[in-house]
Amino acid sequence: MKPGGDHGAFMSALFCAVTLLNALHAAHGGQGAEPVKPAQTGTAQVLVVYYSRTGNTEQMARGVAEGVKRVPGVAVTVKKISEVSKEDLQAADGIVLGCPTYFANIPGEMKTALDDWNWKLKVDFTDKVGGAFATAGGQVGGQEHVVVSLLLFMLHNRMIVAGPLYRNEKTGSVWAESGAAAITGPLDVGVGEAELDGARRLGERVATLTKKLRARVISE
Ligand SMILES: Cc1cc2nc3c(=O)[nH]c(=O)nc-3n(C[C@H](O)[C@H](O)[C@H](O)COP(=O)(O)O)c2cc1C
Repeated sequence: MKPGGDHGAFMSALFCAVTLLNALHAAHGGQGAEPVKPAQTGTAQVLVVYYSRTGNTEQMARGVAEGVKRVPGVAVTVKKISEVSKEDLQAADGIVLGCPTYFANIPGEMKTALDDWNWKLKVDFTDKVGGAFATAGGQVGGQEHVVVSLLLFMLHNRMIVAGPLYRNEKTGSVWAESGAAAITGPLDVGVGEAELDGARRLGERVATLTKKLRARVISE
């Protein structure tokens, strides 16, 4: 083989090696790598994240998880806001957030964590499916405002949001709700069965949409 030919073969091999190294670097999160995306195959993942000091919101979170389990092929994980990692958030295809109402608003600890998910952890929430729930002591205590605030966080982080559906068996009509909520007292004490039903329907809806969206992404 001519000297020039050897040189050409060497340069070609070198180019291939550099290209391969760059690809490996990107795959392991090197500079300029794409944000980690949930796996494009297998089970859809829904993450339920809540803040709760006296247990009411935690009960609703368990209800949401029961609803997710109604949908075959969707796995659910329930975590306190203080326990959630960047990896948990990025691996989730759907995220359901819940917290109590404090002074008709999101508790500061919850809000700080949400800000940090974007600001400090730089989680990419694009096209994840989201839903929200809240608890409040009063009948008009600000729980709907909390639900909407949680949904706004999701919308502003490029998520697709949904609420539970309710089917009226007598008329056949289907209603949509903004999220799930429970009044916890003193007028209506604790998390009731009808409120847990709302939490379950929320989990079921988010799981159904997560599964549909994921199936579409995989088929593309
Ligand atoms: C600091 C603080 C502020 C609260 N503010 C409100 C409020 O504005 N409206 C309301 O209905 N309930 C309010 N509550 C009641 C809680 O929202 C309610 O007890 C809730 O279910 C507690 O949830 P947890 O058991 O998950 O901690 C407040 C409770 C606390 C501790």
